[in-house]
Amino acid sequence: MRIAVLKETAAGESRVAASPETVKKFIALGASVAVQAGAGLGAAIADADYAAAGAEVSKDPAKGADIVLGVQGPEVAGLKGAAKGAWIVAGLDPFGQRAKIDAYAKAGFEALAMEFMPRITRAQSMDILSSQSNLSGYKAVIEAANAYGRAFPMMMTAAGTVSAAKCFVMGVGVAGLQAIATARRLGAQVSATDVRSATKEQIMSLGAKPVFVENVAGIEGEGAGGYATEMSAEYQAAQAELVSSHIAKQDIVITTALIPGRAAPRLVTDAQLASMKPGSVVFDLAVAQGGNVEGSQADAVVVKHGVKIIGWSNTPAHLAADASALFSRNLYNFLSAFWDTDAGRPVLDDEIGNAVRLTLGGKVVNERLLGAQ
Ligand code: NAI
Repeated sequence: MRIAVLKETAAGESRVAASPETVKKFIALGASVAVQAGAGLGAAIADADYAAAGAEVSKDPAKGADIVLGVQGPEVAGLKGAAKGAWIVAGLDPFGQRAKIDAYAKAGFEALAMEFMPRITRAQSMDILSSQSNLSGYKAVIEAANAYGRAFPMMMTAAGTVSAAKCFVMGVGVAGLQAIATARRLGAQVSATDVRSATKEQIMSLGAKPVFVENVAGIEGEGAGGYATEMSAEYQAAQAELVSSHIAKQDIVITTALIPGRAAPRLVTDAQLASMKPGSVVFDLAVAQGGNVEGSQADAVVVKHGVKIIGWSNTPAHLAADASALFSRNLYNFLSAFWDTDAGRPVLDDEIGNAVRLTLGGKVVNERLLGAQ
């Protein structure tokens, strides 16, 4: 069983899909690991660190590989020489990169999309969306604080009092919860909103104030797998009104709202930005999925009405060392949980296998992906 770790080729991708720690663990399971030279540099891991962990540092790691690990899906051209039916295990962006998925099928690879991991208790340690979102929520607040021309905590000084920043977090999933916790640690006054009413208690338990639409029919907002559903027009109107009055008083807004397989919901309009104080900062964590904020642009700071709007196409890549360490563990936890010692390789069960498997025997087989056609 040969596992290959490729150097990422996507622009701005500084993460890597294996760490020296997970290389060692894969070898302990009986696998051999080949890491592409320079694969870890963006995450501060030298080739020598991989070699010390027992990996072969190679120019052509895909050659003979049974499993290829990636952060993002590798180009098919980079998989030359991989075994027939080799597994491609990565964040494959199945809805966004359909042509690449079709190419994996055509080449006979078995592509496993880590972002399709079911949200069940035993798969929590394999969930790349959670591990990466958590870091993104943290980094968004740090970046917003950096771009803000004032302090976050209240300070009483001899020269006078500096008031605490008011921070509003929109969307309280994994990223939003970490954003709340981080902004609180920095001393901001934090409020938050979500469409899933279950988040109200979580917001309060972190010491923040929930801002919720009440008295509108069908507001539960929780769909399959703990994800949000698209809300009714009545709800959206009530939410916009509530947010409008609240947002005008905020200094920092962090938006994180996503709906799987759809464009991100628009939560902040240009008129709402215009109501904010000049010098306020908005970080749009959903910018790569179309954005929650009107006018946000990936990898650019847009200033509108004196408000800075920030958004990155790949936030976890801005903390590549931690993001890579957690991503690598997610992949190891996944493959090792299914390791069949007799077969000397992982053998997936139906519940998780059918959820993550995109291609098999030359065809796209994933129901979720086929259903999106
Ligand atoms: P996400 O990244 O898909 O969305 C972020 C947040 O935006 C969600 O809380 C969603 O409800 C919210 N949102 C969507 N539309 C909105 C709107 N119009 N206005 C305001 N907010 C809106 O969600 P994420 O972070 O992936 O987590 C969703 C849930 O799944 C959480 O409850 C989390 O705890 C749970 N989860 C469970 C796991 C497991 O059991 N293995 C693993 C990871 C998360």
